[in-house]
Amino acid sequence: MPDRPLPFDQPVFVTRPLLPPLEGFVGRLRDVWSSGWLANGGAQHQALERALSEHLRCAHLSLFNNGTIGLIVACQAVRLSGEVITTPFSFPATPHVLSWNNVTPVFADVEPGTMNLDPAAIEPLITARTTGILGVHVYGTPCQVDAIDEIARFYGLKVIYDAAHAFGAEIDGRPIGSFGDATMFSFHATKLFHTAEGGALAVNDPDLKRRIDLLKNFGIRDEEHVVMPGINGKMSELSAALGLEVLKLVDAERTRRAHIARLYAQRLAAHAGVSLLRPPANVRDSLQYFVVRIDPAVAGVDRDRMHERLRRFNIVTRKYFYPLCSRYSCYRHLPSAQPANLPVATRIASEVLCLPFHGGLSDDDVHRICDAIDHAIAEGA
Ligand SMILES: Cc1ncc(COP(=O)(O)O)c(C=O)c1O
Repeated sequence: MPDRPLPFDQPVFVTRPLLPPLEGFVGRLRDVWSSGWLANGGAQHQALERALSEHLRCAHLSLFNNGTIGLIVACQAVRLSGEVITTPFSFPATPHVLSWNNVTPVFADVEPGTMNLDPAAIEPLITARTTGILGVHVYGTPCQVDAIDEIARFYGLKVIYDAAHAFGAEIDGRPIGSFGDATMFSFHATKLFHTAEGGALAVNDPDLKRRIDLLKNFGIRDEEHVVMPGINGKMSELSAALGLEVLKLVDAERTRRAHIARLYAQRLAAHAGVSLLRPPANVRDSLQYFVVRIDPAVAGVDRDRMHERLRRFNIVTRKYFYPLCSRYSCYRHLPSAQPANLPVATRIASEVLCLPFHGGLSDDDVHRICDAIDHAIAEGA
């Protein structure tokens, strides 16, 4: 067995928010203070919307106070109702936004490679009540957008993508926000690009953008006209100001994360039972998470035991996304939620583990994490 590595002095988390130099942020806050304008589409908001439209190459972008409200609004804006087919392998927000729209989530199984909605599993679930598909580009790996688009066009369904993890991802050079009817990005502090709390919707249709902008501001068209039952989804000037400073750091953070990913891949290649989620060759990685799958039969240790053993070294890994959304008490009664219908997702959820992955990790940190993984495997079952 390898020597027992020393635990980290402080917990090492899966991620760490990207913090821009405080002076730059304070400079922007001064501008906000002197404008006296804290919300409702002020100068910072306008500047961030422009900057992100350019960065993400979106036809139209609307900023939100968080990604979940953005998704709720997207469902309203494209008028989802009845049933919507979605993945069980995601964060709670994905099915919950359907519930908040009085829509029943219908869970379809995922593909073993991308861990995203399996297009072949979608079609058998379509009923007269189905109005849309809510795909998730989980961990930033894109869904099979062409196959999903073909099904949606044939059956007349709307497509919304949850790209909470997919900031900066591309398929064959095409930006991730250009697929489907609407795409949501999350700018939560845990995301590579963030505004502390925040999010955005990207759409191609200018009329849809107008509807979204009304919906996120209570449906207020002007001082005397409220034209639809909207909600408050607006991003504040403070968040937008932070986002403008964080955006300056994104390219360097991506470079550092790409290096860390290569280092992990080199070290973990020694373990046949630990496989990596690698984006397909035609995909630009969002570098949001570093995910491994642990096959207990080959590794000699299962995911839960690895999670516990790494905790002893002060390494805090996450079992994203266990349990499956279909196992939540609010969804487990649904016919589509039965584990027998979701064999791939059920297996994946028991094998995935997200390792610490952010630009604040030194090469030495990554080696120490890998030493701890070596040790956890050498300990065996
Ligand atoms: C897949 C997915 N969808 C939606 C969300 C919700 O985004 P937000 O926290 O910005 O509301 C998250 C949050 O991490 C997520 O991981």
